[in-house]
Amino acid sequence: MSESESHIVSVNLSHAPYQVVVGRNLLRETGPRVAQAFPGYRCVIVTDSNVGPLHGKVVANSLREAGLGDDIITVPAGEASKSMACTEEVCRQMIRLGLDRKSVVIALGGGVVGDLAGFVAAIYYRGVPVVQLPTTIVSQVDSAVGGKTGVNTAEGKNLLGAFHQPSLVLADVETLATLPDREYREGFAEIIKHAAIRDAGMMALIDTARVDRGVLPELIARNVAIKAGIVVADEKETLGLRALLNFGHTIGHAIESAAGYGVLLHGEAISLGLRAALQLSVTKAGLSPEDAEAVWQRLADFALPSTIRVTP
Ligand SMILES: NC(=O)c1ccc[n+]([C@@H]2O[C@H](COP(=O)([O-])OP(=O)(O)OC[C@H]3O[C@@H](n4cnc5c(N)ncnc54)[C@H](O)[C@@H]3O)[C@@H](O)[C@H]2O)c1
Repeated sequence: MSESESHIVSVNLSHAPYQVVVGRNLLRETGPRVAQAFPGYRCVIVTDSNVGPLHGKVVANSLREAGLGDDIITVPAGEASKSMACTEEVCRQMIRLGLDRKSVVIALGGGVVGDLAGFVAAIYYRGVPVVQLPTTIVSQVDSAVGGKTGVNTAEGKNLLGAFHQPSLVLADVETLATLPDREYREGFAEIIKHAAIRDAGMMALIDTARVDRGVLPELIARNVAIKAGIVVADEKETLGLRALLNFGHTIGHAIESAAGYGVLLHGEAISLGLRAALQLSVTKAGLSPEDAEAVWQRLADFALPSTIRVTP
């Protein structure tokens, strides 16, 4: 896919507009794109122990060739890295590398890395730019866009953080090819949810994506456009508009916690939460049983593993 075939979604925040580029082979374009936006800056890649070995080199090469440095900081893969301890460790490594306020943090990974590295960027030297390179479906359609960064504490998830918008998001769908099958499929819960709430026309594209990944750039970009619209209307969640995208999400969180973290993947728990929301919508809000069933079938067939079956 050439650059002209990439999809560009503009996040038109008046104080910090930026672009989300969705396409193929975008990682190797990181250097020139960042150099154009931040000439004379130095970059540091923050990634995790799964993604770094798979995709770190192409990003580092691209940054080095553009004269932006090629330092990589790798954190352990997994939710536990979203912590203050890890935040401090990444910051201290950056200080030791001699990175100053003319630095750009390059967040290469899923939502964990995006939230952590975004938070580091928000506080490092009181704020440096962050470029998001999301590598999971969840991070491409949701977490990389909107500037919500942060970490967990023992008391709860995402309790510490900052709003810090990225300067650029490059969602390279080629990176999804290395996702384990279960992680790839659970990401579709978010997409199916977006389709159910905002863009029913996307259902056909979702069905196609199951057999033909060629439609992924368009599908991801349509989801980013939905998220971007909400972010622009309610950047800091003061109006509660992000709740428009909830639809079973909070119930899913409760299911995820009740099952015990690690038993269900996030998207799988969200699928079950959506199931509850669909049933409520049929009994209380006039959703037709056929439409509810059409959404549920896609979740059951695709986002949930075959080991999880829900009886009527
Ligand atoms: N900031 C926001 O607005 C927002 C929104 C939604 C979710 N989140 C956060 O996002 C996190 C979940 O994100 P996630 O689902 O991407 O999880 P994740 O970042 O933990 O990634 C899932 C797993 O896949 C691996 N991985 C990632 N990309 C890969 C690739 N291309 N190939 C192979 N392996 C890969 C990771 O190492 C990890 O083991 C949660 O912490 C959640 O709170 C934030």
